[in-house]
Amino acid sequence: MGRVFSGVQPTGNLHLGNYLGAIRNWVAMQEEHDCIFCVVDLHALTVAQEPEELHAHTREVTAAYIAAGIDPKRSIIFNQSQVAGHSQLAWLLGCFTPLGWLNRMTQFKEKAGGHRENAMLGLYGYPVLMAADVLLYKATHVPVGEDQKQHLELARDIAGAFNRRYGREVFPLPEPVILGATARVMSLRDGRNKMSKTEPSDYSRINLTDDADLIAKKIRKAKSDSIMGMTYSPQKRPEASNLLSIYAALEGVSLDEVCARFADSPFSDFKKELSEVAVAHLGPIGERMRRLLSDPGYIDGLLREGAERARALADPILAEVEQVMGILTP
Ligand code: TYM
Repeated sequence: MGRVFSGVQPTGNLHLGNYLGAIRNWVAMQEEHDCIFCVVDLHALTVAQEPEELHAHTREVTAAYIAAGIDPKRSIIFNQSQVAGHSQLAWLLGCFTPLGWLNRMTQFKEKAGGHRENAMLGLYGYPVLMAADVLLYKATHVPVGEDQKQHLELARDIAGAFNRRYGREVFPLPEPVILGATARVMSLRDGRNKMSKTEPSDYSRINLTDDADLIAKKIRKAKSDSIMGMTYSPQKRPEASNLLSIYAALEGVSLDEVCARFADSPFSDFKKELSEVAVAHLGPIGERMRRLLSDPGYIDGLLREGAERARALADPILAEVEQVMGILTP
């Protein structure tokens, strides 16, 4: 039985991409794996955060995990900062990460934009902390959306470099698990850009906290085209293809089936059906999130308990790494 690790940053605007690309897949994995789901607050700090918002968003992501079906008794849910081993191992692994590897990371280039000299060390070193997250638990499987693939390849390279240096298999090489057409959910305003937390227009995404009216309105206003009948062709019809994939993922049916069902439908009719499906699936999740968030003490208790369980797994692994490296622990 493999060990699963994954995480979401508490940066607000948790959206349908985070749900269909990641969180929803985690729920099924709980059946067969030993799972650790982290709210990666240290990663969130790599871009400016208001302290009260970071606080609130950490609880919000925790509530989303549970509302989506993660069982906090079975799986471990905690926030990253509360297990010191993440930062400690990140330092150690940074000593096995050539700058050339970090310079290739496309997410850093996108986030730093044209001002690389002003970018923070934390943002640059972000993928090393991500490697530490996974390797601290010797996780074997990491379910993520497609945008995290490059970071996980780096984690594998770092693990391999460490193992080779000491001539033993301290770390298993973690496998990314990237599933289906919704591993990359696109913006509702432009089917060529991915749905993201930071896109200024809120109409580009469906947030997990949106109510039924807002979900329906966002789908009604989503960009469409004037071709008669729905067809899946990401190159030619990016918006139609994105919405068809979302429909298939929410309904749990194949893309072929959805395409056959709507082959003769006008875009507007398809959107009505999609709204119903989206509201039926996401409405109860939002509802559960709101209920959970009305009791912050409960969420904080779960996170505290989760951090204790995570520490119990991480401490012996960190001790092994230190011992292999020759760190004196008097
Ligand atoms: P984050 O917080 O940006 O996103 C959380 C998860 O959601 C996925 N995702 C998407 N999937 C499909 N379509 C989209 N439009 C979309 N947008 C986001 C992401 O791929 C991710 O799986 N670095 C990570 C967090 C992290 C992590 C880890 C993940 C830190 N340490 C260790 C796995 C293992 C991130 O920024 O995710």
